[in-house]
Amino acid sequence: MRILSGIQPSGRLHIGNYFGMMEPSIRLQDEGEAYYFIADYHALTSTHDPAALRENVRNLAIDFLACGLDPGKATFWRQSDVPEVTELAWILSCVTPMGLLERAVSYKDKVSQGLSPSHGLFAYPVLQAADILIFDSNVVPVGRDQKQHLEVTRDIAQKFNDRYGEGLLVIPEPRIREETAMVPGLDGRKMSKSYDNAIDLFEETEKKLRSKIMKIVTDSTPVEASKDPEESYIVQLYRLFATPDEVAEMEASFRAGGQGYGHYKQQLFEHVRDHFAPMRERREALLKDAAYIDDVLAEGAKKAHAQARRTMDRVRAAVGM
Ligand code: TYM
Repeated sequence: MRILSGIQPSGRLHIGNYFGMMEPSIRLQDEGEAYYFIADYHALTSTHDPAALRENVRNLAIDFLACGLDPGKATFWRQSDVPEVTELAWILSCVTPMGLLERAVSYKDKVSQGLSPSHGLFAYPVLQAADILIFDSNVVPVGRDQKQHLEVTRDIAQKFNDRYGEGLLVIPEPRIREETAMVPGLDGRKMSKSYDNAIDLFEETEKKLRSKIMKIVTDSTPVEASKDPEESYIVQLYRLFATPDEVAEMEASFRAGGQGYGHYKQQLFEHVRDHFAPMRERREALLKDAAYIDDVLAEGAKKAHAQARRTMDRVRAAVGM
């Protein structure tokens, strides 16, 4: 089984990225051939400062390794080190119906958030399809917001196979875990940098982490009154970090009443802090080892490149080149 996923270097990572993609990817690296990459071509749709892009790529590599990506098990590279994906994206563009892209919600969402409506942004799902299909990927661990992109990928692969030959491209399956498919942000909407509601994976200080968590939106139920845990973003986030017993305890305490939301936020804060403490420590060490990061990405690029070339030989021959 080949597992593949990508993540954009578009700034600091948040705990939605972690639970939606990074943590499942890290777990899956023991279950098959794992391929993970930093999607810097995709980031060009939103990051226009070259120095920032370079720095974001490096920081993302450090953070992913700190969280447990093991380059001994997984191939880890920077997307632009395997430029064949852009060639495949063009070939796939020629089998992709316009209607398929016109129906994509992420283009409309991003434009409504203020991104410039470039051709790159519109064609984004075709490049993503190329990323997945060039590595003959079977399983793609992602959050729910990527579901439609995976459907587009499957459609494009099928169109290609219909035109040029059954079985030429492997049809991938998304792997979306219900419990972590949509991690809520401070205001209950999907956690996202662009909504300004994110808790960073590595907030600069404990104080900052705590003050973020204290900003989680709550209602005005009085301290002594019973509260509905199902309605609380605190509980939703706590479920990601606490044991089932701890969650049951918090839920019971919500229903019983007598505690203010600040008390529960403090409990959540302590769990988040402790959960990421070992990773924070590894990250400190990695920040000092630039050569190691370069080596990992160079080694990953070599392996990914060899695999991509094999697929491209097959694809070029199939289309008549
Ligand atoms: P990106 O960089 O926006 O996000 C990376 C991953 O994080 C997940 N995610 C979330 N999961 C749960 N709750 C949230 N609040 C949350 N926010 C983000 C995303 O679902 C994603 O899995 N288009 C992709 C990058 C990409 C890619 C690929 C992914 C490029 N090529 C090929 C898979 C395969 C993206 O923008 O992810």
